[in-house]
Amino acid sequence: MDFAPFDKRHYPVLSVEDGYGEWAATYEGTVLDLMDIRLLKRLHVPWTEMRRAADLACGTGRIGAWLKSQGVGVLDGIDLTGPMLEKARARGVYATLKQGDLGASGFESGAYDLVTENLAQEHLPSLVPLYREAARLLRPGGRFVCVGYHPFFLMQGIPTHFDRAGGGSITIKSHVHLMSDHVRAASGAGFTLAEMDEALVDDDWIAQKPKWETWRHRPVSFALVWTK
Ligand SMILES: C[S@@+](CC[C@H](N)C(=O)[O-])C[C@H]1O[C@@H](n2cnc3c(N)ncnc32)[C@H](O)[C@@H]1O
Repeated sequence: MDFAPFDKRHYPVLSVEDGYGEWAATYEGTVLDLMDIRLLKRLHVPWTEMRRAADLACGTGRIGAWLKSQGVGVLDGIDLTGPMLEKARARGVYATLKQGDLGASGFESGAYDLVTENLAQEHLPSLVPLYREAARLLRPGGRFVCVGYHPFFLMQGIPTHFDRAGGGSITIKSHVHLMSDHVRAASGAGFTLAEMDEALVDDDWIAQKPKWETWRHRPVSFALVWTK
């Protein structure tokens, strides 16, 4: 579903490559770990047993760095946006980094214990290629950890956005995927749900973003762990 009918902010909309190409310089200073890393820490994934992992839409490598700090072994990453990948490359946590679409990574089939995809689903017109690719990459018994910006939050009209250096806010082309869309795409790719969690706007969020008092108690992000 296109995000446009829900949009309450009406910021100019850029493509993924143009938007993240511009945001790359300040991205790390704007995304709060409360959105995703707090959820990742609550999951029951034995990270140290994950010898090989693929990070789809790896961006600047925020999540790659966290995965390495948890003891994950060899890490490969792919992302569409060159300037985001440059930051990831500088971080030095990925064995391989590719520029391309996460639906066709070209990474080795059945070779991964873990596939991650963090905060990119709202930019995908369909979830089917994501889940199909994750299933192709994983060995039997492997895990796909999918963390996202919550569709309920998007449907309140707040898109993924950033503030331009010269002033003004920009959003990046977005789509709304319901949780049932995840279940359908995952089931179609042969996955079984192992774990799910959601994060609400709570005191920790309000402490860092006081204006978010309006959104208190709303679900802002989610984590799904699928097994193949
Ligand atoms: C919000 S950032 C998340 C980056 C990183 N996973 C993180 O959590 O910090 C979204 C990223 O998704 C990437 N992206 C969006 N659509 C993509 C696609 N179809 N294939 C690969 N990367 C994509 C963008 O280039 C951007 O780097």
